[in-house]
Amino acid sequence: MLQTFKKASPEALAEIAAEKTIRKTNELFLLFSMGSQFDHLIKQKLDTLGVFCLVADPALVTAADVTKVRPTGIILSGGPASVATEPPPFDTEIFDLDIPLLGVCLGFQMWSHHIGVPVISGKHREFGTHDFTITQDSPLFTGIPKVTKVLESHGDRIEPSGKLTILGITGNAPVSAGNYKNLWGVQFHPEVTESEYGTTLYENFCFGICGAKDRFPASAIAKQKIADLQNKIGAQKVLLALSGGTDSSVVAYLLKHALEGQGLKIRGVYIKGIDRPDDETNVLKFFGKQEWMELKIVDATEKFLQALKGIAPMRDKRIAMRGIYKDILEKEVADFGAGFIAQGTLYTDISESGGGYDSGARKAQIKIHHNVNLGFSVPELSPLDDCVKDTGRNIGRSIGTPENLLVRHPFPGPGLVVRIEGEVTAEKLRIARAADGIYIEELRKWNLYNEIWQAGAVVTNSVTTCTKGDDSAEGHIIALWAVWSVNGFTARAAELPYDFLKAVSQRMTNEIREVGGVVYRISDKPPVTIEWG
Ligand code: XMP
Repeated sequence: MLQTFKKASPEALAEIAAEKTIRKTNELFLLFSMGSQFDHLIKQKLDTLGVFCLVADPALVTAADVTKVRPTGIILSGGPASVATEPPPFDTEIFDLDIPLLGVCLGFQMWSHHIGVPVISGKHREFGTHDFTITQDSPLFTGIPKVTKVLESHGDRIEPSGKLTILGITGNAPVSAGNYKNLWGVQFHPEVTESEYGTTLYENFCFGICGAKDRFPASAIAKQKIADLQNKIGAQKVLLALSGGTDSSVVAYLLKHALEGQGLKIRGVYIKGIDRPDDETNVLKFFGKQEWMELKIVDATEKFLQALKGIAPMRDKRIAMRGIYKDILEKEVADFGAGFIAQGTLYTDISESGGGYDSGARKAQIKIHHNVNLGFSVPELSPLDDCVKDTGRNIGRSIGTPENLLVRHPFPGPGLVVRIEGEVTAEKLRIARAADGIYIEELRKWNLYNEIWQAGAVVTNSVTTCTKGDDSAEGHIIALWAVWSVNGFTARAAELPYDFLKAVSQRMTNEIREVGGVVYRISDKPPVTIEWG
């Protein structure tokens, strides 16, 4: 769990004072995490701006606690609750403290409700990117054009009322930004990359409205992480779950630096069975002959197939897959005599699993990730658990992780399992692997691979009647998807050229006997998640 402010106890106040001394500042921002999938992105925005931001628990922190820490500004994130039907935990006296406060989505609805503005369940829910129009000049929008694209993800909406000044609108929201005394609010999410000028908005709030002055450069994160690993590991050995994807590869290099000159203390385990066609070759190429780490390949194909036999719901398949993953790693820990298991778990994985900041606000579980809360018999090392994909990549770059590993498309731990609908069988695995092979090969051939953040081919349970060689048959529908993203929290369906999609369809239907047709998914995240399952 990440550190969260819960009470203005003498210990907490002393820790805050110590951090302020290191940063040479008297300024502090409190971010109340209301359970949004994006709360950590707000923290990252503030970290990047260089301000000291402490995540606060809305269920425990009172107005009296806030008064004691005297924050320069307060931010309330979005969240899954609704002020009308499921009031989120929060001491509303905090709104009346005359401290500049920015409410994002639910946070905006909360203070609107508090001052008596109607917040109703909207007829038109807003998901995805929309045009936001500024209708009133304000310091919140300094340097931001009149019309910009913003990402919205909400059902409730704020009704116009004489009580608040409307600052901006979108097609479905008559109040998309507003102000009342010290309270500021936006209905959209300025922290995600799809919202243009989001960084400017947070900059305007912190340095304009709140009057902050001090910036602490967010440098040397990798150095801190390496020192932290050294302290934790001591003289013990480490078993690393190594897929050869970006995150586990960056962890491999962090461990390399942490344990430099101590002999062979790291064993990477690559588990094969539900992987892509070129994954094993990739791992062997980059990690097969390193002096600082030994590599072990475990073929678990049969184990995965056995565990997944007869299971159709995606959630249950994820659980079954996790079980095998855990069993194998436990066995390897014992075999190697390791004191720790290291994984490339990102904050995204923890957050989507319903975890993250230790806060009393409800947080939805989007999907069970294979690498979170496995309860290993030895302690876990997850040095990237406060990072999203792009921060992990930057850390990797600064410590010499080969660029080819950093620019690989992300691939989920549960592998092809989440790209197969219904029961996972040896035949469907073969089809999924063949489809992935063709899709990725063509993306590279058409020079599209590096433009796309991630792409996948799903073996669906839908079949289409087809005619191959004058005979009638039925074949699986393969659903292709490809996204543009920065950190995986949000993503936009990539607009792939039609000719490319035709070429992929032609190859798949010709070369994979069981494939009858190919479709392309055009939805953004949210509302869909990147993976099919
Ligand atoms: P979703 O599908 O949740 O994916 O929008 C966000 C990113 O996470 C990857 N993903 C996973 N990675 N274990 C992982 O290590 C998982 O269980 C898992 N599920 C999704 C996904 O490929 C995308 O990059």
